[in-house]
Amino acid sequence: MKFFVDSAEIDAIAELNETGMVDGVTTNPSLILKSGRDILEVTKEICDLVEGPVSAEVVATEADAMITEGRKLAKIANNIAVKVPLTWAGLKACKTLTDEGQMVNVTLCFSVNQALLAAKAGATFISPFIGRLDDINLDGMDLIADIRNVYDNYGFETEILAASIRSVNHIADSARIGADVITAPPSVLKKLADHPLTDKGLEAFLSDWAKTGQQIL
Ligand code: E4P
Repeated sequence: MKFFVDSAEIDAIAELNETGMVDGVTTNPSLILKSGRDILEVTKEICDLVEGPVSAEVVATEADAMITEGRKLAKIANNIAVKVPLTWAGLKACKTLTDEGQMVNVTLCFSVNQALLAAKAGATFISPFIGRLDDINLDGMDLIADIRNVYDNYGFETEILAASIRSVNHIADSARIGADVITAPPSVLKKLADHPLTDKGLEAFLSDWAKTGQQIL
């Protein structure tokens, strides 16, 4: 399973990238706002830092304008994935841009039917939003499982990119179901290594090591 960082904060992406765990990055207009940076500048910096796909989202709502924005975003770097919303205009833009050889991430997916449409439009990635479904008392993880099942039934190659992840359990469950990619905020990704028994065990080992009076270096 691939790990994408859901952020436009260069320092946080760079820190995680040093561990080799970063396979890509996703951004959206809200994350650009949070970063306080210019979209073209910050996206270029992210693309220079990370080898894998970097999603940059269009903000037009009509297909032709989405395509024009998508082409402009695609010029930032070879690893741009143009992000379009799951609307009819977004699907049309997806089809045009993927036909041109561009990676496209279809975002704001909340149903298996929407995911089917994105796959038929040639999407590289489909982004079902787990957390936002959980927020309204639906089960976001059920949607990931449904899409996995339906895509496998027909051999669709669109990658399932589990998005709107709020907890480490969302990541473990996405992996169990077989999502191709998860995108999560740095704060959640950093929690993946945490375990109280690791902390307790390390404390005991270091305490015993101190009693040996030895040094490795
Ligand atoms: C990523 O592609 C999505 O835009 C992001 O995961 C949405 O997350 P949120 O629901 O926490 O805003």
